Amino acid sequence: MSTQIQEFAKRLKLSWIREHYQEIEATSNEEYLLKLFEKEIEQREERKTNLLLTQASLPKVNGKPFDWKDIVLTAGLSSEDLLNGVFMEQQENLIFYGGVGAGKTYLATLIGLNAIQRYGKAVKFYTAASLVNRLLEANEKGNLNKLFKQIEKLDLLILDELGYIPLHKQGAELLFQVISMCYETKSIIITTNLQFGQWNHVFGDPILTEAVIDRLIHHSHLIVFKGDSYRYKESIIQN
Ligand SMILES: Nc1ncnc2c1ncn2[C@@H]1O[C@H](COP(=O)(O)OP(=O)(O)O)[C@@H](O)[C@H]1O
Ligand SMILES: [Mg+2]
Repeated sequence: MSTQIQEFAKRLKLSWIREHYQEIEATSNEEYLLKLFEKEIEQREERKTNLLLTQASLPKVNGKPFDWKDIVLTAGLSSEDLLNGVFMEQQENLIFYGGVGAGKTYLATLIGLNAIQRYGKAVKFYTAASLVNRLLEANEKGNLNKLFKQIEKLDLLILDELGYIPLHKQGAELLFQVISMCYETKSIIITTNLQFGQWNHVFGDPILTEAVIDRLIHHSHLIVFKGDSYRYKESIIQN
């Protein structure tokens, strides 16, 4: 009988039940079934979360609580809202602006982690440069559509370090396509060290820059990171 149970569980894709059904103790049929279902669901959710985490390629975090002291939030958006990804409910965007080491990447990563772990959202982290490279490469190989489809499935796209390197014409245009594709259908977090007035240096072309900013700013929150470099502060404290 047990081989048949295992066979049926396999056909029904109940992998936890297939391996562990004998370990469950219960005093009634109902309780037994309930416990089986509970465990199966629990394991499925865990697997889904792990998959989402792998796909997101978020940077590692050190587990330190986030220090909000030097972060300027927009009205009506609390730090809790940010961490809970409330902006994602309306497909709004976040622009993180500030100097190096002020916590932009760290906060974007924490928001991404929460979105996955608390809400099962699909997240992807790229540096702007790495996404542009992927886009150019995919375009050259003729599988741009495949990459676009992957991006289309996301709830949250994190674009880190926009502005550190100027983009070539084609790269800028492809990045614009991605930003347009995300417009009003998903959320983007962009971290940057450049004010909007200087984005021209990244995108190269004033019309394209205006179009990018237009799509991003509409439905977005600007968060300013005013702190000095945290790494620098910590290295002073430690020495
Ligand atoms: N506000 C903050 N609260 C806690 N840790 C911070 C904060 N800002 C920076 N850090 C620490 O400094 C490191 C560097 O910050 P990072 O997010 O990479 O800066 P940025 O992306 O703005 O250059 C982080 O990994 C984190 O450990
Ligand atoms: Mg950073």
